[in-house]
Amino acid sequence: MTQAPITSPCIPEIETAGQGGGHPETLIRLDGTNATLLLIRRRAGLPEIAYWGRRLPQEISEAEIFAVRAPDSPNNGPDQWRPLITLLDTIGCWNFDMPGLIAARPDGSGWTANFETEQVAQEGRRLVVRGKDTVSGLAIVLSLELGPDDVLTSQARLTNTGTQSLRVERLVSGTYLLPESVDTAHVLSGEWGNEFGIEPMNLTRGGIVVESRRNRAHDHFPGMLLSPASTSENEGEAWAAQLGWSGGHRLCVERMEDGRIRLSCGEYLYSGEGDLAPGAELVTPVAYATYSSAGFSGCARAFQAHARRHLLHWPGGKMKPRPVLLNSWEGSGFDLHEDQLMRQVDAAAALGIERFVLDDGWFGARRDCDAGLGDWFSAASVFPNGLRPLSDRIHGHGMEFGLWYEPEMVNPDSDLYRAHPDWVLQTRGYPLWTSRNQLVLDISRPEVSNYLFEVISEQVASVRIDYIKWDFNRDLVEASDAQGRAAYRRQVLALYALWERLHKAHPGLEIESCASGGGRADWGALAHTQRVWTSDDTDALERLAIQGAAWHFLPPEVTGCHISEVPNGITGRTTTLDFRACVAIFGHLGVELDPTHLSAEESTRLKAWIALHKRLRGLLHHGLAQFCTADPARVVHGVVSDDARSGVFLVAQRDWVSARRPSPIRLSGLDPAKTYRITLPEPQNLPGYRPSEAQKAVFSGKVPVSGATLMDVGVFPPFMPPLSALVVELQAV
Ligand code: DGJ
Repeated sequence: MTQAPITSPCIPEIETAGQGGGHPETLIRLDGTNATLLLIRRRAGLPEIAYWGRRLPQEISEAEIFAVRAPDSPNNGPDQWRPLITLLDTIGCWNFDMPGLIAARPDGSGWTANFETEQVAQEGRRLVVRGKDTVSGLAIVLSLELGPDDVLTSQARLTNTGTQSLRVERLVSGTYLLPESVDTAHVLSGEWGNEFGIEPMNLTRGGIVVESRRNRAHDHFPGMLLSPASTSENEGEAWAAQLGWSGGHRLCVERMEDGRIRLSCGEYLYSGEGDLAPGAELVTPVAYATYSSAGFSGCARAFQAHARRHLLHWPGGKMKPRPVLLNSWEGSGFDLHEDQLMRQVDAAAALGIERFVLDDGWFGARRDCDAGLGDWFSAASVFPNGLRPLSDRIHGHGMEFGLWYEPEMVNPDSDLYRAHPDWVLQTRGYPLWTSRNQLVLDISRPEVSNYLFEVISEQVASVRIDYIKWDFNRDLVEASDAQGRAAYRRQVLALYALWERLHKAHPGLEIESCASGGGRADWGALAHTQRVWTSDDTDALERLAIQGAAWHFLPPEVTGCHISEVPNGITGRTTTLDFRACVAIFGHLGVELDPTHLSAEESTRLKAWIALHKRLRGLLHHGLAQFCTADPARVVHGVVSDDARSGVFLVAQRDWVSARRPSPIRLSGLDPAKTYRITLPEPQNLPGYRPSEAQKAVFSGKVPVSGATLMDVGVFPPFMPPLSALVVELQAV
């Protein structure tokens, strides 16, 4: 089978011919701004990774690297030396640890691989290595690029040059060498409503393997942080990697038998998904990795900068200020009435909302989760004249109209399923698994994706839809196509193609990748969408951890952060509007409540918070992310402008502090030599706080404070009870 080419970003190949065979040993060097990658092309094998870490001086010589990296011959070891950790380690070549390629022929042969480098071509920051194994009948192209933002992108392309078909079970996108001082893998774990947990795991001998195989990654976002145990947010060395892929993935870090640490990152292939006919090729998703000597925050800033510059695509080529949106879900659920929605639209406009999103329940027989999914025609009982009157009302206020879809899914109780029961993914003969009473459509079938494209496209044009909230609310289970083959990989590729088709047909359209929140928030999805829904858990307390972790991999401006109803629908917790607003305004702000139910005072305050967000969003969405070390009961994070002239920080109190006087807040990212005026912008009025006169003077900007003092000495905030927060603005004097 020929694998469809990946439509996520591909690293361009280099045309210029590189060095051929019969070469001497050579040193290959790629530099970022603060990082260096060194590879040694030995006489045999693929290039060995010699170093990836802090940027090395330019004068470092090839001879000295060869001298310090000279291979030894350990007792009881191989007599014929082969390099390991190379850009792709295989089964064979004295590699007994976890291989980056697993493949074999149908008759069981060709199960080892032993690549020789054929050609190395380097063009500035980009490197392309071509290798082949004439015995196993394989050719490999490994593409790498280390950008000025210190993000290393890697991708592999494997061709079956043999005469029999080849079953590929694993092909990693990137392999990395880490120093032995790395003893902690910070693994991303969670579940629905509790995504992006960061769990430190001790890296002793053996490996830590993190896989997600359900095409929704609530269990494990495809990223990992690695460091010595002493590394903190702003100090120490840190490495991070993430896979740009919305299907199954496998991240693996292992302290190998010889003590060295190898990290690899690639997609998870179900049986048969990597089958290659003679001449066919398998292209991996892109893996992104970064090194920072400024702690985990440094990795976050590198990823954010890279995503902003290379990954995200905006209608018109440039990101417009992220529109503050109102989403109908938590306020109205399935209880939709056109007249009430019209009132909500008017109330939303008065609050300063810029995009009104009509969530689930607007179509077919969808009055609850049980029916109608797949019938993308407005429900006549709710919208007797279709959606156009609502859209016109929204546009009449100068707002954008967003509409919810879950195109990949269908309820068995729907006209679509009744007409096309054969369109769903299932292993025929086994029971049909449902989740939330829904099934998954095989969108890799052209008739299915064409149907979805036609119906959505027609509505986007006729109803004037500016934004699609694209949901995806169940895992893929035993997802076989009509021929019984695993269809996880093709499903992702078909989704990317469908998104691209819609973007091409409607150049102004924005799409949000929702997936029950956090389920499809990876860089593969983000290469085709403009926002991810961070979590269905909108409880501000829980969001502190969820958002903080997500922003180590994603720019805040693409993460949906909403001020929602209380008591919270998931946790039942009630928090103040101010606390919810403080936490939400740092991302792509949304409001998720019925605005017609607000009291006059709540409306006034909410309007003021929205106005504050609008004033600050230029900085919040373009600046450099800061994560500060603080008392465990407190969260301090923020954003500082490139020139360090302005900053905005959140100080949030999660719980009671263990001491009467908690440690002072120490900020980061400021210029130690600059002096800053600190203010607590409106609508904060500190009810319940009892700041001293001296604190009032500091927090009203009357006593400017140097960056050095703010970062090293710190500043005592006024007493803050649990579930309270402050937004602190800084402006250089
Ligand atoms: C799950 C999403 O995450 C929610 O925001 C909402 O859109 C519901 N689905 C609707 O069914």
